[in-house]
Amino acid sequence: MQKNQKNPYDRREFLKGTTAVAGATAIGTLLPTGMALAQQGKLKIGLMLPYTGTFAQLGVAITNGFKLAIEERGGKLGGREIEYFTVDDESNPAKAPENANKLVQRDKVDVVVGTVHSGVAMGMAKVIRESGTLWINPNAGADEVTGALCAPNIFRTSFSNWQTTHALGKVLKAKGHKNAVFITWKYAAGEQMMAGFKEGFEKEGGKLTKELYVPFPQVDFQALLTEIASIKPDAVVAFFAGGGAAKFLKDYQAAGLKGKIPLYGSGFLTDGVLDAVGDAGEGVETTLHYADGLDTKKDKAFRLAYAKTFKLQPDVYAVQGYDAGQLLAAGLDAVKGNVGDKAAMIKAMESAKIDSPRGPWTLSKSHNPVQDMYLRKVVGKENKNMGVAWKALADPARGCKA
Ligand code: BEZ
Repeated sequence: MQKNQKNPYDRREFLKGTTAVAGATAIGTLLPTGMALAQQGKLKIGLMLPYTGTFAQLGVAITNGFKLAIEERGGKLGGREIEYFTVDDESNPAKAPENANKLVQRDKVDVVVGTVHSGVAMGMAKVIRESGTLWINPNAGADEVTGALCAPNIFRTSFSNWQTTHALGKVLKAKGHKNAVFITWKYAAGEQMMAGFKEGFEKEGGKLTKELYVPFPQVDFQALLTEIASIKPDAVVAFFAGGGAAKFLKDYQAAGLKGKIPLYGSGFLTDGVLDAVGDAGEGVETTLHYADGLDTKKDKAFRLAYAKTFKLQPDVYAVQGYDAGQLLAAGLDAVKGNVGDKAAMIKAMESAKIDSPRGPWTLSKSHNPVQDMYLRKVVGKENKNMGVAWKALADPARGCKA
C-alpha cells in the first residue's frame, strides 16, 4: 500500500466510514421508536452455506442451530423480524465471489452468515472486506480469516484450523507416540490443520514423518492406506469431515489398520458421522471445542431444544450456528436493531461473553473464539468428553493488523 493511501480495513478508518451511515440513520432516532423500527423493516440475513455435496449435512446443522437461536428470541433480533436469503455455495471456491455477491450486491443483506469450506471463505473474504458487510463465519477455519485478512466487520464463531489440531501434539506425547503420519484433503483446511499439529507435536519432541494428501472432495483412500501400512508410524492423524470422514473411518477399518495403528484427528473426523459408520469410529481420539457429555445446564437445554425442534441430535456444526445467532443477537440488542450503527454493534459483539453449549467463550482481538479444546474418545455413538486438552486456546492470529 502506498504512503498516504488509507487502508479501508484499518479499524479507525472502517469505523469512520460507518459513522457517515450512522449519521444518515440518526434521523431515525428522532422518530418514535415504533415508527423507527417499522422504517427499518425486516433484518436481512444472508446464509451462504453448502446444501449439496460432501458438506451438505454441515450446512444444514449450522442453519438449524442459527435459526434455533433466533427462535429462542421470539424470531426477532434487536426488535426486528428476520428475512432470510439463502445461497448454496456447493463448497466450490471458484464460485465463492459470485455467490457472496448474490447476497451482498443483489439481495443487499445486512449480515452474511457463512460458510463451511476454508477455500470458499477465502473467496468470500475479498467481497466482504470491500463491501464492509458484517460477516459471521460459523465454521470455515481458514487461518487467514482472523489472521492476515482480519477486519472489524469479520467475526468467527467456530475455530481457526490451527486451533483444532494444536493440542493433539500434547495428547500424542502423553501416549508415548514419537512419530506420526498426517492424512487429509489437499486444500487450506487440511494443510493448516496439518501445520497446527506439526507445530504442537514438534514442540513436544515428536516428529511428523509423512504428509499424505487426496484432492478435495475425493474419497479414494486405498493407495494412501496401503502406504501407511508400509510406513508403520506410531500414530495416524487425520482431517476429513462430513461424508468424507465417514468413508475414511470405514476404509481405515477395512484396510485392517484399526486396532493396529492408533487413529487421531481434529474432531471433525468423528463429529456428526458416528451413526453412519457402525463401529469403525470406536476408540478414535480427537481434539475439538465441543464434546458429548459436557453435562452443563446450557448444553443440556440446547440439546433438548435442538432434538425437539429438528428430530436430530446436534453436533459441533449446530453449536457453531447457534453461537453465530447468539453473537448477532448481542450486537443487535446493543443497537436496538439499528444495523446502521455499525461501530456500536461491532463493539458489543467484540465484548460479548457467549454462553455456549460448548462452554463460555469470548472473542480474541482478531475476532476468533478463545476456547477450551476437549479431548474426546469415540465410545459407542458418542464423542465422549475425556477432559480439557488445552484451556482457553487462542489462535496466534498471525498477520492480523486490525
Ligand atoms: C474447512 O474447510 O475449514 C472445514 C470444513 C469442514 C470441517 C472443518 C473445517
